[in-house]
Amino acid sequence: MSEEALIEVHDVTKTFGNYLAVDNLSMSVRRGEIVVLLGQTGAGKSTVLNLIMGTTCPNSGQIRVAGFDPYASFKALKGRLSVSFQTDRLLPWRTAVENVELGLLILGNSKSRARASAREWLARVRLDGADDKYVHELSGGMRQRVSLARALAIDPEIVFLDESFSQLDHVTSKTLRRDFLQIAREFRKTCLLITHRIDDALEMADRALVLSPPARVALEVQISDEARYDPHKIAELHAQIASAMGGESQTEH
Ligand SMILES: Nc1ncnc2c1ncn2[C@@H]1O[C@H](COP(=O)(O)OP(=O)(O)OP(=O)(O)O)[C@@H](O)[C@H]1O
Ligand SMILES: [Mg+2]
Repeated sequence: MSEEALIEVHDVTKTFGNYLAVDNLSMSVRRGEIVVLLGQTGAGKSTVLNLIMGTTCPNSGQIRVAGFDPYASFKALKGRLSVSFQTDRLLPWRTAVENVELGLLILGNSKSRARASAREWLARVRLDGADDKYVHELSGGMRQRVSLARALAIDPEIVFLDESFSQLDHVTSKTLRRDFLQIAREFRKTCLLITHRIDDALEMADRALVLSPPARVALEVQISDEARYDPHKIAELHAQIASAMGGESQTEH
């Protein structure tokens, strides 16, 4: 396994009862890299994420995150990883800024420092002005921005997003993806993003891995910025990925 890999998954198998969810999977993510995991529903994407976050353990194989076994050393990785999901999972009785500062407070920051940092992150995701609004006063897109600010505010080494843009309308999703990408690059975050949308992967990934059930890598493609802006190359990559996903070409609608 490569030394610069921040996430390493080696020959991992995971079963739920008799069901084989992950079959001998090996993959890695280098520091500063943005890797997108693609796959149809049930391919095992979220299971792989849970294994890497250490919320579940493999039956066999080895996982290392920043040098730690994420399941056995769950606490050692506290504050070094963060995650945002398809739904925002915000606390309704807290305002936007109070939701964002929560992780910072849990990690032991002073109230004033946590508050200042939470406000900065809300501004970075273009939500300045909404700091003191409650969740029910925010649109779906704004809530997802709060959720991203909360994930980023603790300054994690690795950011995981599991379908974070999937429930939003086309335009909101696109601007949010662009804003997230800019922040991820600026702060050199290592990211593992999960989506079933090929277009999202082509837009965001340095590298895309297509999982086919039971989670194994059916295709791995490198996506250079040069390729990203070449319509022919993008169409070719799209077709390749669609075929690896089982022929189903899922674009945004
Ligand atoms: N805790 C669990 N217990 C039993 N089966 C599970 C569990 N978690 C996942 N599975 C099964 O493992 C398979 C992979 O599930 P997973 O949630 O990883 O898929 P996914 O690729 O994330 O799908 P989606 O795109 O719908 O989110 C599915 O068949 C699912 O039913
Ligand atoms: Mg999932």
